[in-house]
Amino acid sequence: MMLPLSVGIHTLLLGVACVAEGDPVLGIPAQLQGRRGDIIRELGPLLSKDATIVLPLSSEAEPLLIRAATPRISPDYKAIVEVATEQDVQQTIKYANLHKTPFLAVSGGHGWPTTLNGVKAGIQINMRKMNHTTLKRDGRSASIGAGALQHEVIAALFSHGKRAVTGLCECVSAIGPLLGGGHSMIQWRYGFAADNLVSARVVLADGRAVDVAADKNSDLFWGLRGAGHNFGIVTSFVVKAYDAGDTWTLITLTFTQDKLEVFFETWNMLEKAHPDRGMLVVIGIMARNDDIDPENPVINLQLIYEGRNDAADLYAAAFRKLEPKADSTLQEISWGDLFTAGGFGLTGPICRKNQNILGYPNSLDKWDVDAMRAAFGIFSDLTSEELFKTSAMLLESYGQQGARAVPEGSNAVAPEERRRHLLTSPILWWMGDDAAARKRAEDYGAGIQAAVRKGAGSAEPHAYVNYATGCEDFGEVYGREAPRRSKLKALKAKWDPQGQFGFYMPIE
Ligand SMILES: Cc1cc2nc3c(=O)[nH]c(=O)nc-3n(C[C@H](O)[C@H](O)[C@H](O)COP(=O)(O)OP(=O)(O)OC[C@H]3O[C@@H](n4cnc5c(N)ncnc54)[C@H](O)[C@@H]3O)c2cc1C
Ligand SMILES: *[C@@H]1O[C@H](CO)[C@@H](O)[C@H](O)[C@H]1NC(C)=O
Repeated sequence: MMLPLSVGIHTLLLGVACVAEGDPVLGIPAQLQGRRGDIIRELGPLLSKDATIVLPLSSEAEPLLIRAATPRISPDYKAIVEVATEQDVQQTIKYANLHKTPFLAVSGGHGWPTTLNGVKAGIQINMRKMNHTTLKRDGRSASIGAGALQHEVIAALFSHGKRAVTGLCECVSAIGPLLGGGHSMIQWRYGFAADNLVSARVVLADGRAVDVAADKNSDLFWGLRGAGHNFGIVTSFVVKAYDAGDTWTLITLTFTQDKLEVFFETWNMLEKAHPDRGMLVVIGIMARNDDIDPENPVINLQLIYEGRNDAADLYAAAFRKLEPKADSTLQEISWGDLFTAGGFGLTGPICRKNQNILGYPNSLDKWDVDAMRAAFGIFSDLTSEELFKTSAMLLESYGQQGARAVPEGSNAVAPEERRRHLLTSPILWWMGDDAAARKRAEDYGAGIQAAVRKGAGSAEPHAYVNYATGCEDFGEVYGREAPRRSKLKALKAKWDPQGQFGFYMPIE
């Protein structure tokens, strides 16, 4: 399970990928690895006219190097290739292979597992120029460029009265969440983002480009949906499209911490009473709000639902009985505006960049009140430090139905991800590059995770792959069934025999 957190440089040299030793100064400076400019001269002529190659010390590189979770997550690059076509991706991979250079695709730049720091003197393949969203003529599916961000996809489809299953945060790519499953506002009806993939174009480790769908390279199609960071670079993909639906209501209730026990008891009671509650998303966020409680974090609850929904009325009434300190409602929110209204917008704090994001996830099927109290205590200590004050503890429930309607074996999304519908994780945010601060963050985060796990009884822990720290074992993120494990390993051996796609929760 958890590895010891205090591992030194010697372990880095042994190549243990999960430890947080990503500091580029420990490696050989990228610019000494080869003569600067060689790549521009050699690869440049092979690329399309819209592609660009940027060297890491140039001023154009800065925005391409800042990730959501820098400096903690800082893959080390000797060049960045902004690809504009599938052939650009192929040429770049072939060039990297020729020079025995690692490479990493970047779309939204929000991934945070420490395994990403395994990239040393590599080539960043930046996908952002491949950002199209095109609705197919019959309106039932859409083709998306793998560099498109969620807000671009939502806006493009909504302009045709349509939507697709994407994540919640506008700044994240559409492909990133999908490759690991993809939790969504409309998951209750349509399942995970991965469950809605129709086909993909994928460039493999040797530079070949292939079609992937139910009837084309179907084994890869299975693996791409859930373990999809392990096999190739998706250049474009087709997902199911649906009508944009009714308008939404957003109720926000804020509770002080003395209500914590009744809050989680009420949540459990409601989920038991209304297992099929319709398109109602329940999201709690524990965070500091000094206006409401200067001493302790508070619990914010969002009830977000489409159209009229009787279960939502019952949820709201039951939580209101707990006497929230703040209570507000927004109505008639269109699908196109929902993400900004809910606080998931491009300019919202959740989308901030260049802070050391770190998560410690658990998936559960009900809340354990004592465990959540213990976790809250550690979270309270964490956020009493000024440095970590803006951290949050996520409590997410998208409803069971959509994810469970899809048979467990039908793609690589872990069965535990379908069965355990509650997703909780502290999301630690802090600034700067201080090693002692990072160690404290890791200790707090692991402490919160362990406290939550104590409440799960004998159930083996499950961590959502897209929220993982990088230190989890295989079964914890990809599922524990032996046949599934062999299947994933066989796929890895077939499609990525050299392990070139090994920087994001690698199957190894
Ligand atoms: C603010 C925030 C909000 C989030 N919200 C949600 C959410 O609502 N639902 C949810 O399920 N998850 C969510 N996540 C987690 C999210 O799924 C992961 O962080 C995801 O990896 C981000 O994808 P990205 O493209 O933005 O990041 P990147 O770091 O660019 O990519 C992540 C990984 O995918 C690989 N990759 C990128 N593009 C491709 C490609 N075209 N082909 C193959 N591999 C590729 C990268 O190499 C990297 O290893 C959120 C994370 C953050 C930080
Ligand atoms: C989207 O793609 C187009 C075409 O490649 C490109 O010109 C544009 O800069 C891209 N958008 C972003 C934000 O990168």
